[in-house]
Amino acid sequence: MDGLTNMKNIRFFEETDSTNRIAKELAAQGAAHGTAVIADRQTAGRGRLGKRFHSPEGGLYLSMILRPALPVSDMMAVTACAATAVFAALSEYGIAPQIKWVNDLFLNGRKICGILCEGGFAADGTLEYLVIGIGLNLHPDPNLPAELADIVTNLESETGQHIGRNDAASAILMHLERFMEELPARTFLEIYTKHSYTLGKRVIVMHGGHEREGLAISYTEDAALVVRFDDGTEHVISTGTARFLKDPT
Ligand code: BTN
Repeated sequence: MDGLTNMKNIRFFEETDSTNRIAKELAAQGAAHGTAVIADRQTAGRGRLGKRFHSPEGGLYLSMILRPALPVSDMMAVTACAATAVFAALSEYGIAPQIKWVNDLFLNGRKICGILCEGGFAADGTLEYLVIGIGLNLHPDPNLPAELADIVTNLESETGQHIGRNDAASAILMHLERFMEELPARTFLEIYTKHSYTLGKRVIVMHGGHEREGLAISYTEDAALVVRFDDGTEHVISTGTARFLKDPT
């Protein structure tokens, strides 16, 4: 692997609780920009909003430590940028997933990838480090829990392609490096918008402490979601998720 990371600063684990947890621990101990943690499986994979991320053998579980000079207000853009990097990596294999705001990738209507970005902040509130955690389902899971069967899928089952863990990681890191360098110019945003799974759909979001329904119409420069509520007003949603009306995720 070249570019953002190389074999020297990748930590491999057969099994760990969470690569994000380890990456945060390493970052707090001073690990360099570009350090990556990869595991074959996780026993306590972390998802967004405190959820668990099912992480059996057959997936890529990758956490990347970055030390970018970015304002905290760029966190959502970074998250969207990471999703776009996964999209671009899969495009190299002729695979065209869709990106659900903020950072899930779907293929044929089911989730193939989740991303969890976590920041470490200095006492003055500035960003010290970022951990970008990516979980990508590469191969079928023979023990997939029944409750996930309609919700998640994997690249091999959907495309017939057997993409190796290291090849996937290498392609993702290459695109992540490029999109992160170009973050101030928001070059990821065109792809992120074009391949959105969210725009044009009716969604439920949290606004003013309440759940509200509306139409997802566009993204801002910071990758926040613009929703038109049924009273015609438009609002920028920059936290939480957008649930589809018929979607259990
Ligand atoms: C989500 O779908 O809510 C986000 C899931 C993020 C999962 C990845 S797997 C690698 C890294 N380590 C973790 O514990 N979580 C992230």
